Amino acid sequence: MNETETLTATPEGLTRAAQILSAQGLVSFPTETVYGLGGDARSDLAVARIFDAKGRPRFNPLIVHVPDLAAASAFAIFDARAEAVAAAFWPGPLTLVLPLRADAGLSPLVTAELDSVAIRVPAHPVAQVLLRAFGGPLAAPSANPSGRVSPTRASHVLEGLSGRIDAVLDGGVCAVGVESTILGLVGEPALLRPGGIATEALEAMLGPLATGGNAQKPNAPGQLASHYAPGAAVRLNAESALPGEVRLGFGAGQADLNLSVSGDLIEAAANLFHLLREADRLALPGQTIAIAPIPEHGLGRAINDRLRRAAAPRG
Ligand code: TXA
Ligand code: MG
Repeated sequence: MNETETLTATPEGLTRAAQILSAQGLVSFPTETVYGLGGDARSDLAVARIFDAKGRPRFNPLIVHVPDLAAASAFAIFDARAEAVAAAFWPGPLTLVLPLRADAGLSPLVTAELDSVAIRVPAHPVAQVLLRAFGGPLAAPSANPSGRVSPTRASHVLEGLSGRIDAVLDGGVCAVGVESTILGLVGEPALLRPGGIATEALEAMLGPLATGGNAQKPNAPGQLASHYAPGAAVRLNAESALPGEVRLGFGAGQADLNLSVSGDLIEAAANLFHLLREADRLALPGQTIAIAPIPEHGLGRAINDRLRRAAAPRG
């Protein structure tokens, strides 16, 4: 592949991005959660290229991005419950797993041949304009090599994927900073991944959510797949740093870097992936990143989910 183009969020940049996507190329684009690595979700070639660029195992299905509920209805079956959730949270950092429509026309690589589909309407204005300019569904996992820290800036995308994708559309820093919450609505409502919409907000509408049942979220902590991993080793729930550790703090106290000095979980989520990268830069060979405890509520659940995977044994 040739050099990766950096495109700006101008009419020219967006036209170029849509052109590349129409030619089954790959464009990384900003969403309010993280940068996605987009390709035409109807094209086997484009989707195969996504897996190849990321070095991602093929059995892991991708999220389909569309501009609105009307567009989503072409690919998934919405019952009254799904429509209500979509009306409440879209556009926004929520992905719904719904029954796949028989006539959806998506590449079977996107759904890993399941009979359900994960679908999302991002709120980021650049994602919205791109989806409308392209005029079709975009399959988009996070734009990072498989298993590594997700990107929240165009520069992060280039660090991991330069020369492996056609272009990155620069839309600045992602405001939410952790991936979308994934809600399964095929049977009983199930939390498949904590993320940018707090679980509590979904439970207020749907009642208690089932958890587990997703290959990406095994129940036993020891089985957690290593993911979101920086180069350095990670130690969690560190009340203080041991000599020689790089300390990533939360709230008041001594730290090399701080997710949120005021202890704000929304700010901490927005800073998480960038500061994991910065901590990795500070860590000398063999040094560990010691991360302060993060409360397990609101966006803290998504942060802790990512941190547990960052700390999991490397495969
Ligand atoms: O915020 C986000 O969601 C970002 C941005 C780019 O939109 N995307 C993202 O995609 O995080 P990805 O591919 O990294 O995560 C997709 C997750 C995987 O854990 C996958 O297992 C799950 O969605 N998934 C996809 N289709 C599914 C399905 N039919 N049933 C259950 N889980 C599914
Ligand atoms: Mg990812």
